[in-house]
Amino acid sequence: MKHFISPDDISDVQELIREGLAQKENPFKDQQLGHQKTIGLLFFNSSLRTRLSTQKAASNLGMNVMVMNVGSDSWQLEMEDGVIMDAGKAEHIKEAAAVIGQYCDIIGVRAFAELKDREYDYREVVMEKFRQYAGVPIVNLESATRHPCQSLADLITIEELKTKARPKVVLTWAPHFKPLPQAVANSFAEWVNLTDYEFVIANPEGYDLSKDFVKNATIVHNQEEAFAGADFIYAKNWSSYEQYGQVLTQDPAWKITTEKMALTDNGKFMHCLPVRRGLKVDDAVLDSPASVVIQQAGNRVWSVQAALKKILEG
Ligand code: CP
Repeated sequence: MKHFISPDDISDVQELIREGLAQKENPFKDQQLGHQKTIGLLFFNSSLRTRLSTQKAASNLGMNVMVMNVGSDSWQLEMEDGVIMDAGKAEHIKEAAAVIGQYCDIIGVRAFAELKDREYDYREVVMEKFRQYAGVPIVNLESATRHPCQSLADLITIEELKTKARPKVVLTWAPHFKPLPQAVANSFAEWVNLTDYEFVIANPEGYDLSKDFVKNATIVHNQEEAFAGADFIYAKNWSSYEQYGQVLTQDPAWKITTEKMALTDNGKFMHCLPVRRGLKVDDAVLDSPASVVIQQAGNRVWSVQAALKKILEG
């Protein structure tokens, strides 16, 4: 594998899930692979899980790890070509990515959507500039439109917990007061679409995700209808794709409750975290045996370790 930016970079999702589970079973079996190799982790945005799980995974593979918060630890980076750099941004991505590529064998990048201009965000400018100029493999640690390390961990978790060959998986919008990116929801949709699971997306009117990610998933605007008989409930907030970056509703009727979970087939509750208790989901759900959010977050180590292993081998 050359990069891990989107599912276009992988050949077989089931094989990658199996690799994640194998890494979990024996975390140090490939420690020689990363010997004398360095990974640089660049964060344009905050992180808890992604930062620590990627550091741990790289360390398990024997790699040296460098971490930098871009903009606060480093110079602010200019992404546009042909501009006169007479404002706050002191370094251009062309030099910065190429220089970091001199120091690192792999670069991980986190750069969220700005939610101002849909066309700009969906061009994945930051990730593509790193791919273009760094000269080394790039790992997507959550970009404007995708979060593949999270999605692979989600599929590993479903694989561990499913009780039927073709579970019903529901991605549901949940309320939030801030405009959040579509990346986690987009990515979960496109990775579940690589499986043969029954896949339903529930969201209010005006919150349909891009068709490029949803593909043939069933979209419903009635959450209780979606929950009926579900095996997995994956809750996430996202801002509107159609009215880009807008919060169209904060309707508390979309919060995940014990009563709604009772509509499922003993369904498991999933969320990528961080989660705002009481706003998106009731404490009683998060604190119940149905919640698998900690196992899911734990699997972030094994998903990125599987991806890094494939890159180191490739
Ligand atoms: N789920 C996730 O990516 O968590 P962090 O934002 O804390 O890395």
